[in-house]
Amino acid sequence: MPLLSALRRLGSKPVMQDWPGLIEAYRSWLPVSAATPVITLREGATPLIPAPVISERIGRSVKVFLKYDGLNPTGSFKDRGMTMAISKAREAGSEAVICASTGNTSASAAAYARRAGMRAFVLIPDGYVAQGKLAQALLYGAEVLAVKGNFDRALAIVREVADSYPITLVNSLNPFRLQGQKTAAFEVVDALGDAPDWLCIPVGNAGNISAYWMGFKEYKAAGRSRTLPRMMGFQAAGAAPMVLGHTVEQPDTIATAIRIGNPVNKENALKAQGESQGAFMAVTDAEIIEAYKLLGSGEGVFCEPASAASVAGLIKRREEVPIGATVVCVLTGNGLKDPDTAIENNDSKFHTGIDPDTATVAQVLGF
Ligand code: F0G
Repeated sequence: MPLLSALRRLGSKPVMQDWPGLIEAYRSWLPVSAATPVITLREGATPLIPAPVISERIGRSVKVFLKYDGLNPTGSFKDRGMTMAISKAREAGSEAVICASTGNTSASAAAYARRAGMRAFVLIPDGYVAQGKLAQALLYGAEVLAVKGNFDRALAIVREVADSYPITLVNSLNPFRLQGQKTAAFEVVDALGDAPDWLCIPVGNAGNISAYWMGFKEYKAAGRSRTLPRMMGFQAAGAAPMVLGHTVEQPDTIATAIRIGNPVNKENALKAQGESQGAFMAVTDAEIIEAYKLLGSGEGVFCEPASAASVAGLIKRREEVPIGATVVCVLTGNGLKDPDTAIENNDSKFHTGIDPDTATVAQVLGF
């Protein structure tokens, strides 16, 4: 590629062109061998974006960054775990995978499984999955079962199915998922040169917070960072079992990705919170939507509602952030996954039925 070699001669580093996917990039940190067939869509290497508007809102000379994992190949952080889970399933000779999902896991599982030539079965809570995610699972070629129950029920079913039949479970109970997802913490430290003071992250099934903590600890143990962050996990108020300390039977929130009442990784997540002197806290749907809109119209970053819980939480707890601290908010999924919520929740002017002539347009523009 002439452009690439020209850039190289200039000494630039066209990272995105050369990025091999996270298994190759972090091979020595992952449980893979020469025998593992690497199934990759070149996931990872997502940007850490400075957030000046949110930093200003927090004040106290705090520097806020957004780890925009919505820029992964299927639009969410799940791809980090799925490249590992599917590669290991393929290595083990599996021909089919199954998961329960609020949407993102199903999209990612479908994409990676089909790329590996495997069948993908996904169970979703009927009526509670954002349109874009459903579109992805179908387009990628999964078999989709919409069950009349919530995510927790669907997960209980797929666990039983995977126990009884030759199908690999690719929910975050699968340990390879968290192994892949821990690379996001590596990337944050690689970008900042050290761990942040706070890591703000949305919590649903509590796998990602556990994975990040594992990553931060491994990097610190290897001398790649001097410090560890406080892990600040945010849940939607209507689906906050980690905050309440008990299962929520009927979880409810606009952030359907984290509409979960009984997180399977709660023990790991509690450990992350305890060891890091972190906290679990709830944010209301109104606070989530406010942060979601601020991210879009203030920072130019479109994430899905569940992802905005990390920023909503930071804003809510801003008084507790140490002066001058570095804070990373994890944006787990892409806003395009859920166009309905964006169209229903914004402060923009949308003029419809405009006559197609210049004078009318100029008049509407206020000139
Ligand atoms: N953010 C998004 C966009 C998610 O899709 C999820 C989980 C989370 C945050 C929470 O992560 O479960 O590791 O605590 N989505 C799962 C799914 C449940 O099925 O796609 P967690």
